[in-house]
Amino acid sequence: MDDFEKYISPNATIYYGNCLTALHDVPDESIDLVFADPPYNIGKRFGEFKDVWPSDNAYAEWCYQWLGLCIGKLKPTGSLYIMTSTQAMPCLDLWLRERMSILSRIVWHYDSSGVQAKKYFGSLYEPILFCVKDPKAYTFNVDAIEVEARTGAVRKLIDYRKEVPAPYKTTKIPGNTWYIPRVRYRMAEYEEHPSQKPEALLERIIKASTNPNDLVLDPFGGTFTTCAVAQRLGRKSIGIELQPGYVKIGLRRLGIADQFDGESLHAPGKTYVRKNGNGVRGSAIDEKQIELFDV
Ligand SMILES: C[S@@+](CC[C@H](N)C(=O)[O-])C[C@H]1O[C@@H](n2cnc3c(N)ncnc32)[C@H](O)[C@@H]1O
Repeated sequence: MDDFEKYISPNATIYYGNCLTALHDVPDESIDLVFADPPYNIGKRFGEFKDVWPSDNAYAEWCYQWLGLCIGKLKPTGSLYIMTSTQAMPCLDLWLRERMSILSRIVWHYDSSGVQAKKYFGSLYEPILFCVKDPKAYTFNVDAIEVEARTGAVRKLIDYRKEVPAPYKTTKIPGNTWYIPRVRYRMAEYEEHPSQKPEALLERIIKASTNPNDLVLDPFGGTFTTCAVAQRLGRKSIGIELQPGYVKIGLRRLGIADQFDGESLHAPGKTYVRKNGNGVRGSAIDEKQIELFDV
């Protein structure tokens, strides 16, 4: 698809099309925060789109194209967070550090009780770069993202290094390793998409790097988690997505439309019946049974 379609509400705009095209429609220097979670070049299938490039270099070159456009759309005070695979991130890191200031290299990690690698250490994290255009002028709302500090809140230790000894603070700014569970089938936020990101991850990023009414851009909308969280937090957003199936999720999740091409849009109907026929349906779910689906 070379063109795009645009769906607009007071808080959010969805582009249905290729971000390399649609980004040209976004005014330059208008965006406060870009969150980019592109395909990782690891062979996943997103609807009709297969996430494979002919080489690592070809993938990196493609990333440089949309990254360059995104940087142009950011305000001088803007921030950009980008995710990709552990193998591709070093290329993007080298490219980005010549164009922006990289302030944090974040590790989003999670657990998995499912099958992991048996002959090497399985991958249980994804890297995120946090970059700003101007390291002397950017938004970082410390108070909005502080987490519990064990020393102060749990161990209740006293800091005797101070002239007048005082209890340690009970909160702190999170470090750069973030433990946030992945989206699981039984979670209310679950949508049918192979790499939906958790709302908690976007919540921390959006709260830290934007203020109410700021404008957030996500060039790879997927299930439009970024736009949904932005909307809940009183921010405005633009999301772009290539696959019609995921555009439908975004239109519904953001309350922009309840129909697409004459089709009614519904949240995924979940069944708790396992392939072997065990389990129960809908609201009559027994807690022990739910645990089976976490695996
Ligand atoms: C990793 S997923 C994003 C998931 C999203 N962060 C979420 O929480 O649901 C990447 C998405 O980019 C879409 N995509 C791939 N190439 C694209 C392109 N050139 N322009 C816009 N979207 C694209 C895929 O269809 C896929 O849904």
